[in-house]
Amino acid sequence: MSQFALLRQHPELIYFDSAATCQVPDVVLQAYTDYYQQHHANVHRASHQLGRAATTALETARAKLAEFIGASAEQIALVASTTAALNGLAEQLPVQWQAGDEILLSSAEHHANILPWQRLAKQHELTLRYIPIDSETGELGEWRELLTPRTRVVSVTAASNITGTVFHLQPLLQAAKAQGTWTLVDAAQAAAHVPIEVHQLECDALVFSMHKLYSVNGCAVLYIRDALRDAMAPFLVGGGIVQRVSATDAELIDGIHKFEAGSPNTAAAVAAATAVDWLQQQHLQRQLVNLRQQLLEQLQQRAWLTVLPSGAQATPTISFYSDEFQAFDIAAWLDQHHIAVRAGHHCAQLLLQQWQLPAVVRISLGAYNTADQINRFLETLDAGWALFGSD
Ligand SMILES: Cc1ncc(COP(=O)(O)O)c(C=O)c1O
Repeated sequence: MSQFALLRQHPELIYFDSAATCQVPDVVLQAYTDYYQQHHANVHRASHQLGRAATTALETARAKLAEFIGASAEQIALVASTTAALNGLAEQLPVQWQAGDEILLSSAEHHANILPWQRLAKQHELTLRYIPIDSETGELGEWRELLTPRTRVVSVTAASNITGTVFHLQPLLQAAKAQGTWTLVDAAQAAAHVPIEVHQLECDALVFSMHKLYSVNGCAVLYIRDALRDAMAPFLVGGGIVQRVSATDAELIDGIHKFEAGSPNTAAAVAAATAVDWLQQQHLQRQLVNLRQQLLEQLQQRAWLTVLPSGAQATPTISFYSDEFQAFDIAAWLDQHHIAVRAGHHCAQLLLQQWQLPAVVRISLGAYNTADQINRFLETLDAGWALFGSD
């Protein structure tokens, strides 16, 4: 907690909403402001020293972020967010769409990985199929019959933002690749908790937002495998990606930079690379696994609530509901006691619809959480239940 300015200013706060966004450690904020104070200029086209320093800062950050997931810098586009990347991919995937072509998603997708495909499906009369999520285990359900010769794209989340389940995607991605289907992975929830080696995953693209990895908003890492990168048109067109422009046409550059038209958010990229360094020094995994286990065991002892299943491997995110104490009332009660949790559908309405749940309470843990905080949360939860729950 001592490393986080916001938490130092609010010592009473228990922040259990890291799956939505993480608090930012001082070292990352420092890197962000240092960039503006010492190196800020626009990149790539500069004919002055400061511009060259900013370009170096951006490209050094890209190399670091690439290394984090086992990719090369030429495979990493830095974009604004996971949402922006998924919209761009849906619009620009090199597919000659024909009515009746299929896109395979899962019911655990965040809306960011549903709505762009729905829009595309309406434009081209495509069929969206959803792999169900097993309500007993929280794992990916049966998908073999849903992957058909018409499936042009599989786009799936690596971890649920509601249950925390880390999905075992490899067999699905392998089967899809084997039939020439484009495979995309939304790693927004997984990247902070699961080591990612893109070359071991059979994916053509993978994306995650750095604000869920203890960095600032405005930078997401979009890995694109070489064949897709070379075949796909830019998401945005404009300055910085042209070789030559005539009155009616433009010749664009090749390579990963074609996905970064316009002035990039260099400060956010620098902060993101610092966050990766910081995260790698923290060795948080054991701490978060233990805290999650403590929380899970305690919640499971409370007969008045039901914890959603989270599979064989999970991020430190746990959701629950109660038939007697409504999710929004629980969150409001906890908020009165300075405990920040989320209630609702968490931008993944399909999963809750599939399980016929209107809303759940989500607790998502991060670097700054402690066993004491979990105990305080449980005491507060029980006090709320005693007051409001049982009548
Ligand atoms: C699984 C998943 N995908 C996508 C997103 C969207 O990320 P962003 O808001 O950074 O674009 C989120 C954010 O909560 C998420 O949890």
